[in-house]
Amino acid sequence: MLVLDGKIASAAVKASLLEQTTALKAAGKRTPHLAAILVGNNGASETYVASKVKNCEETGFGSSLYRFEETVSEQELLAKIEELNKDKNVDGILVQLPLPKHIDDAKVIEAIHPNKDVDGFHPSNVGRLVQGLNSFIPATPYGVLLMLEYFNIPTKGKNAVVIGRSNIVGRPMSVLLSADHPQGNATVTCCHRYTPKEDLIAACKNADILVVAVGIPEFVTADMIKPGAVIIDVGITRVEDATAKKGFRIKGDVNYEQAITKASAVTPVPGGVGLMTIAGLLMNTMKAYEGKFYHN
Ligand code: GUN
Repeated sequence: MLVLDGKIASAAVKASLLEQTTALKAAGKRTPHLAAILVGNNGASETYVASKVKNCEETGFGSSLYRFEETVSEQELLAKIEELNKDKNVDGILVQLPLPKHIDDAKVIEAIHPNKDVDGFHPSNVGRLVQGLNSFIPATPYGVLLMLEYFNIPTKGKNAVVIGRSNIVGRPMSVLLSADHPQGNATVTCCHRYTPKEDLIAACKNADILVVAVGIPEFVTADMIKPGAVIIDVGITRVEDATAKKGFRIKGDVNYEQAITKASAVTPVPGGVGLMTIAGLLMNTMKAYEGKFYHN
């Protein structure tokens, strides 16, 4: 059984990016710059954004963090995005989700210029991704692709099942696994909340690659896993635990102890896909800097 260690795979991505930023600095050039926007005091969001900023520093990227109160108006947020769109020193803009209820996520996402949309959430990038055109790939599915590449996991002609159809993970993941590229060309089934349980189990039992992104701790159990399957656990849920130092533990969507008895490879949680998401974001920021995904 192979542990798909996100620490190792993300370190390789970051080392290569650090090499590039070191060369840029040596040539007297500026390095990629990520601007992150955080609204409110959601504990998980605070942790994610802090980690994104820290990883920028570790790879020689510039970063800036703009914090807003929970009560910020949509207009104020849109004005900040417009300012960052125009700022020539900012390559990537990230608005951490979820946003407070009074703010329209879609409006905020569409306000980010597609060339700076390093989360890959803008409809223009999503449309391009679906058509197989150059685009930003949302960071988590991108991280999964980088993980598959690093560990040389074949996908061509395999049966892949994605559980979950969110815009952030499940939907782009199922598109990417079926697309014509080295980590694609799989036969993909996308399951979701209306997939009858017996159909879900049958699909999973036939999955050579199973990607789980539902946000329900230990949703996938041993009986759902095909012997020898590759299991990619995208779940990161905080579960209250009075015995833990922080008062909670991080749980994945897969019962890890059960999965390792049947699978050939499994991502741990924490230490798996979460770290790869950051690697995907950094890769996108470098690509934005290089102007790789220019469209008018
Ligand atoms: N919230 C959960 N995942 C993500 C992500 O990948 N990007 C942003 N901006 N917000 C998130």
